[in-house]
Amino acid sequence: MKCRKTLLAYAVGLLSAMPAAMGTVTVVPLPNPQVPGFNFPESEGTIVNWVYEMGNGSPADAATAFENINLHGWGLWTALTMETSQVDNGQPLRVFETWFTPQELAAGPNVANPAFLERLPRTRSPLLHFNQFQHGSGVQEQSGSAATEGSETVFGYVKFDPTATDHIQKEQLLSIAMLNKLLQGGSQQIPPFPSTALSLKSAFQVITSQTLVEGRYYRLNAWSGPPATPQAWGPAMWPGVVWIDVEGGGGGSGQIDMQASMDGSTRTDATTYPVSSMINHRLSALEAAEFNTEQPGAVASAGDYAVLVAMHVAGREITRWTWQTFWWTPTPADPQLPSSVAVASLRPAQLTGAARNYAMAVAYDMMTPGQPNVGGQNVGSAIYAYNPYLEARFSPANLPNSLAGNGPDGQPANNNVGVNCNCMSCHVRASFNPNNLDSAPKYAGARYTSLDDPQFTGTLQVDLLWSLPEIAK
Ligand code: HEC
Repeated sequence: MKCRKTLLAYAVGLLSAMPAAMGTVTVVPLPNPQVPGFNFPESEGTIVNWVYEMGNGSPADAATAFENINLHGWGLWTALTMETSQVDNGQPLRVFETWFTPQELAAGPNVANPAFLERLPRTRSPLLHFNQFQHGSGVQEQSGSAATEGSETVFGYVKFDPTATDHIQKEQLLSIAMLNKLLQGGSQQIPPFPSTALSLKSAFQVITSQTLVEGRYYRLNAWSGPPATPQAWGPAMWPGVVWIDVEGGGGGSGQIDMQASMDGSTRTDATTYPVSSMINHRLSALEAAEFNTEQPGAVASAGDYAVLVAMHVAGREITRWTWQTFWWTPTPADPQLPSSVAVASLRPAQLTGAARNYAMAVAYDMMTPGQPNVGGQNVGSAIYAYNPYLEARFSPANLPNSLAGNGPDGQPANNNVGVNCNCMSCHVRASFNPNNLDSAPKYAGARYTSLDDPQFTGTLQVDLLWSLPEIAK
């Protein structure tokens, strides 16, 4: 109920502060997508019981729990990709597009000033270059490494739903001074987010005219599954591509161009997909200019398409959050690992249009059987959940605190590369480490970490959100 009030305060503050000018955006809370069986926020007890049932040894319980967990992930996706009544640059804004990025929050004044909620003259948030491994955790990305070049570069943004935004502003969690106060005052962790809090991280590709073949076809690296031997496996290494037609043609229904020519000579109608099969929007002049600044050498212009290739979503319904990730696929009913036909078959009827063409993987725990928040062990079978467009590129050097264990099949595995990652395993280690303690938790592949691990000593735990210490000012 507290959250309702907060939202109401938002809406009232916003209305009273709304200028007559066009171009403002109103933040939209997660709508009810009317998916049967999907509740939000679901109770913590219900969700952790699903996790328990996945590993309690009863196949019938595991089957039901699998359905419940995956339906929950799809419900979130359905809700946050719904179109709102707001229009930007002639196109409807989806729910997630109305949310704030941490950069916008860190730059803005305190929420006590409702004018902060206006975003003139633009509405969509700028696509930023992710420096996933340049800050925090003491891991430096080698400049010029495969992870920073060409199609490997990730553009997108992190966003927070209105209730998470409200919490960040009230507790000033994007203020380094405030994080230091908490740490010096003896806090072990930041004040926890409310159960309604949601966060996402997205990856877009911008289709500039210079990147088109025959003036209309864009060469998109298409995921055809993890490599036989676990290793860093970024998009430039994938054997297949699909061709995205910005003019809306293409009869593709699952085929990938495994010859992957650069010049389009291998393209066929069957490996061509209309741009409308992806969540997309056309850049405004401002967004195009921002993109060109972010990516020196790029020549985006107004009207170019930005297409969504990947999105992570985390929800604070449980202490260690629920983690789900989505990526565009030419085979939405039969997606590759780390998704599956079984996951895809649970897509609800309410999920329609381009949003239905994404595959999903979830991590509601680090391993099966589930391990407790504190005092668990690195035993059992790891759950692999990663996004091909985001984490598949990670090498052992990117994941220095990895710990060998078992794979999903129960066989020994090093679990130290991107295709052996688990969202919760890396995020549970998120901490503010202003004194650069070498002992502080660093990034890792799929493994167990207790919330009271001695590695956290001298750091401030940040409720699993790595972006807070990385973007705080
Ligand atoms: C190896 C570490 C690692 C793994 C694995 C990982 N992330 Fe993240 N994630 C990060 C970092 C670091 C950030 C901060 C933003 C940035 O620099 O990219 C982040 C940002 C995020 C955010 C924005 C909120 C925040 O934490 O600040 C979400 C949501 C998110 N990740 C979800 C996921 C999901 C879902 C998965 C699994 C499919 C996943 N992540 C896997 C490291 C990881």
